Amino acid sequence: MVRTGSRAIVLLWMGIAVTAAGALAGSPQYDPQQVYADLNPPPVEHAMPPGLAGDASKGLAIFNKTETGNCAACHCAAGAKGCGDIGPSLDKYRSALGAEPEKSDQWLFQQISDARLHNKDTVMPPMLPTKAIGAQDIVDLIAYLNSLK
Ligand code: HEC
Repeated sequence: MVRTGSRAIVLLWMGIAVTAAGALAGSPQYDPQQVYADLNPPPVEHAMPPGLAGDASKGLAIFNKTETGNCAACHCAAGAKGCGDIGPSLDKYRSALGAEPEKSDQWLFQQISDARLHNKDTVMPPMLPTKAIGAQDIVDLIAYLNSLK
C-alpha cells in the first residue's frame, strides 16, 4: 500500500516535469534586452503640430506644476517656483542659451517632447511619449521660454 502510494507520487511528479518542460520549449526565449527595449522605446522625432497658439502664462503654470512638467525641479527661470540646478538655468532664455540659431521653436518642441534625441544620455525625462504633458502644453511652454529675454 505504501509502495503503491509513493509510486503514484513519483509518476505524478514525472507528469508535472514533462508538462513543464513542454511549456518551456514552446515559450519564446526570454531576452532581457528586448524587455528593456519594450519598456524604453527609443526616442523619435516629434514635429510641432501647426496651428497651435502658445500661451506664456499657461506655460509658466505647467513649468511650475509638479504633476505636469515639473520643469522647475531641475531648471531656474523667471517666475519659477523653486530653482532646480540639475539642468541649466533657463532664465533670460532667448538672450542666453536659447540665442543659438539652431534653437528654433521646433528644436524646443523636440527638446521638451523627448530630449534623448539631442542627448542620448540626458537626465531630462521624455514628456510626450509618457503623456505627462501634451503637444498644446509644450507649445505653451515654448511661448513662456520665448518670453524670457
Ligand atoms: C530631471 C531634470 C529635468 C527636468 C524635470 C527637466 N529638465 Fe530640461 N534639461 C535638463 C538637463 C540636465 C538639461 C541639459 C541638457 C541635457 O543634459 O540633456 C536640460 C535641458 C533643457 C533645455 C535646453 C536648454 C538649451 O537651450 O540648451 C530646455 C529648453 C529645457 N531643458 C526645458 C525643460 C522644460 C520646459 C521642462 C519641463 C517640461 C524640463 N526641461 C524638465 C534636466 C531636466
